[in-house]
Amino acid sequence: MHTAKHVQQLRSSYIREILKAATADGVISLAGGLPAADLFPHMLLQEAMLKVANNRQVFQYGETRGYAPLLEHLSKTFNLQESHGTLVTTGSQQGLDLIARTYLNSEDHIAMEAPSYLGALQVFTLAQATINTVPQTPSGPDIKALKQLFESRQVKLFYAVPDFHNPTGISWSLQTRQEVARLCQTFNVTLIEDAPYRDLRFFGDDLPLVSSFCPDHSLVLRSSSKTSAPGLRLGSVTGPEEWITHLIRVKQTSDLHSSLPMQAALLEILTHPGFEQHLCNVRSHYHQRYQALSEAINTHLQSEVSFTKVEGGMFLWLKLAKGDPMQIAKMALKKGVAIVPGSVFYIEEDIQSPAIRLNFSYCKPEQLATAIQLLASVIALPK
Ligand SMILES: Cc1ncc(COP(=O)(O)O)c(C=O)c1O
Repeated sequence: MHTAKHVQQLRSSYIREILKAATADGVISLAGGLPAADLFPHMLLQEAMLKVANNRQVFQYGETRGYAPLLEHLSKTFNLQESHGTLVTTGSQQGLDLIARTYLNSEDHIAMEAPSYLGALQVFTLAQATINTVPQTPSGPDIKALKQLFESRQVKLFYAVPDFHNPTGISWSLQTRQEVARLCQTFNVTLIEDAPYRDLRFFGDDLPLVSSFCPDHSLVLRSSSKTSAPGLRLGSVTGPEEWITHLIRVKQTSDLHSSLPMQAALLEILTHPGFEQHLCNVRSHYHQRYQALSEAINTHLQSEVSFTKVEGGMFLWLKLAKGDPMQIAKMALKKGVAIVPGSVFYIEEDIQSPAIRLNFSYCKPEQLATAIQLLASVIALPK
């Protein structure tokens, strides 16, 4: 059977290929976006699952919007204003897909930073939207380019990851947050603020959500994947209640509702007195891993690369002075290190400079140091 035309536009994901290879024995993987399995809140998960197993009600069909006690907890934690609502989704990825399916007609214009999260590029491609990109600077999107874009055409959505971006790890400055919010209000563009890494800050001070400066022009995606466990497959969308209501109608056609037992388990985890300590532990380990990675880069690769320091999250973006990142990724895999070439995070029209994405959450510090030594032997080869 032939796939639908819009499916044919999806590029076969190099990440999927490399992730398959990355799980082979003996390969050190800096490729995926995986949180550290050794830092999952095992005790909390165990307790939560036992409790949930004894609660018959959550094994029945439930409300599409989500498990009421979890919704109540989330809206308090997010400090939502009265006119705003929450929808629990099957991962924040589903939130993104629902937004595209609910709000985008084919050829509607959307804006993104370049580079951008691959999963979002795929959702917007599948929705047949026209993707416009603006370059990213170390403090966020290039404001001048964003303004020009908003002036030149009616952009419906601006998708962004302002905290510890995937793939670059950068976090927007306060000024950029305010300027983007102002532009979205002025040009009536809806900001899709994707914030899965927001709670993973290990250095510096927290900054407000961009949407806090334009609440009625934004939808916020959050995820439990990086702070609890991705296998729970839970996330949420918040924003003006009227917009959430439309998302609920579309989610009904998709999966009726996200798993109730998992939502009940998540509520147990989030309200457990040990949860804050768990988060501190994750942040502190990610900080150590980031330091091990950046020190190894400075020791073994300094003259070949450059990178902007990150203050949280799971990724570092390594700019290369020379070389083809795709070739480097293939050669690195032969040496036993999996990395992702930067090109997969761009649309074809984008101007790119050679770079690779390195994940530092998944491997232990010693493995990260070994990986960089192996990578150096590939990058430093005369071309
Ligand atoms: C920026 C971004 N958004 C969304 C997701 C999807 O997260 P979830 O596991 O909640 O579906 C990811 C996963 O890596 C991500 O990096």
